[in-house]
Formats: sequence, structure tokens, C-alpha cells
Amino acid sequence: MIVPARDQLTPIGERFLLSRTPQPAQTAWFADDVRAGLGANRKRLSARYFYDDLGSALFEAITFLPEYYLTRAETEILERHAGDMLDAAGGPLELVEFGSGSARKTRILIGEALDRQERVDYHPIDISPHALIDSSAALVAEYKRLYVTAYATDYFELLESMRLRTSERVLALFMGSNVGNYEPHEADKLLSAMSASFKPGDGLLLGTDLKKPAHILEAAYGDPTGVTAAFNKNLLGRINRELGGHFDLDGFEHVARYDAVRGSVDSFLVARRGQVVAIDALDMTVRFVTAETIHTESSYKFAAEDVARMAGRNGFRVAGRWTDSLGQFAVSLLEIL
Ligand code: AVI
Repeated sequence: MIVPARDQLTPIGERFLLSRTPQPAQTAWFADDVRAGLGANRKRLSARYFYDDLGSALFEAITFLPEYYLTRAETEILERHAGDMLDAAGGPLELVEFGSGSARKTRILIGEALDRQERVDYHPIDISPHALIDSSAALVAEYKRLYVTAYATDYFELLESMRLRTSERVLALFMGSNVGNYEPHEADKLLSAMSASFKPGDGLLLGTDLKKPAHILEAAYGDPTGVTAAFNKNLLGRINRELGGHFDLDGFEHVARYDAVRGSVDSFLVARRGQVVAIDALDMTVRFVTAETIHTESSYKFAAEDVARMAGRNGFRVAGRWTDSLGQFAVSLLEIL
């Protein structure tokens, strides 16, 4: 079982405890990163800041878009193969989920795990406290033998603080191609922190989007309904709301391009005109020339060999791999060596 420092746990319900990073710390990380990113020569904002309450709701809407096939493909894989995945992982298991969001897909694994064991301990970790609280409360209401300890924090912060301590065999979940939002060296750092935090024989279920033609990928990240554009621009909205920014959101356009060499869909906000934007809380003004870009996200895509190499570099071996019927997405079971 995971035993975080006692004073940081708040009981929310009978089988639901919450550990939360204090808001001032999160605001300071955001302020420092915005200052560094918008002060750089090639402007950038980190994708980790998409997920405030509005951003989490916009991402949830993205998962229903016809063009964004990733969530449907991964759900199909889980619906067909969750039992095989749990059998391959062994048991009894505790589930630790990195980036749980609405935990819609996780229900499938929790249901299968409860068919195999008396009690399931589930430890979701998500930066967005509201999504985490809502989904955890719904899960404990639905499954009477489920015990939730939820962490509203950053993955690195949690792993480095050593608050994750496990006793049962762990099956960690890192689904939805979330790993693709990290630059390769950061993904390596995160996966090696995961393999160091758990025990040999523990497993990691890793969802990864597969490499495919540019037109399919660019449609998935540039939907005509404009939901992804709103999701991307919410970063500027968040700077306005939380840091006293003066961005005019209509002054920027959302653009997503697939770079087949790096295997990444890169998202940008592109200035429609020259402009100077003040950010009061940072005592900073940011100048943009026409067509200047802010890089906001990379979404890396992975062939089977890419996952095998990444696993090998970070203390894992591939113990199983499942794909959807259209061959668009993969879920791999990585075992800690
Ligand atoms: C959460 N993450 C895996 C999504 C992705 O596909 O990179 C975020 C996203 N960005 C634009 N659309 C969806």
C-alpha cells in the first residue's frame, strides 16, 4: 500500500483520501515557467499548464471529436484485452495511475481487477484537483471494494518526494499517449523515476499513439470544430486569469504540424499581428512580431521499436503489446527488471 506523509492526507469520504500540493507552490511553478518561456528567443509554454479546470474540460471534449481517434482506439483495446493485461501482470495488484483525468478508461481495469481480488487499492495522480476529486468520488461510490488515495500534484514532485510507497505488486498506468507530451529526454527521466519507485516484477501499462500519415495526425490535432484551438488558447486565458496577463486570444491562431523526422505533432500559437502584451504579476511585457510562434505542445508518436527502446533505456522490458482493430494505437505492458 502507498503510505504518504500522514499530515498531507485529507479524508474526503469513507474509502477516499486526498493529498494535495498547496496552491501557492503551483502558482509559483506556473509564474516561473511563463517568465522563462515567454522571455526565451524561441517562445514556448509548457503543455503541463493546459490542465486547469477549463483546460481539463476542453480536453475531455477533445476526446469526443471524430478526428481525435486516440481515446476511442485505446478504449477498444482495454475493452477487448483488459483481462489479458491483468493476467499477464500477475496479482494481487495495486493500481497507480499517472494522469487519471476523468478515469473513464480506468473503470474497465478496476472492474477486471475486482473480479480477481477481494479489494483494490487505486492511487490516481493528476495535476487537476477537481477532475481528480470528481472522478475518485464517483469511483468509490460505484465500486464498494475499491480504496482510493488520490494525489493532486505533479508526477515528478510526487516520485521525487518518495511519498509513493507500495507493498503489493503494482500495476502503474500511464495511458492516453500522455508519455508523448514529454520530450524524449524528459520521458526517459519520468520512466526511470517510475522504475526506480516500484519493485522488480511490477508493471507499467503504457498507452502510445502509433506513427501514421500526416493528414490523419494533423486533423486529430487541428479539428474543424475548433475545440483543440480553444484548448491551446486556454494557456493564454490562464495567464490572463492567474497572472494578470493582457493577451487578446483573437490575436493568435492555433496551428498543429506533424514533423515525421522527430515523430511529433507540434502545436503552436501564432501571432496574427505584431503586438506587445503586459503580464502584471510578472512585471513583464512580451513583444511579438507578425507570425511569431509560441510552441505549446509536442505529441510524440511511437512505432513498436520506439517503445521497446524506451523501455530498455529505463529499466523495463516489454512483456505484452495490444493494438486496436485499425492499428492506430498500442498499449504495452512493461515489466520492471
Ligand atoms: C493528453 N495528451 C496525450 C493529448 C495528446 O494527444 O497529445 C493532449 C492533446 N493535445 C491536443 N489534443 C490533445
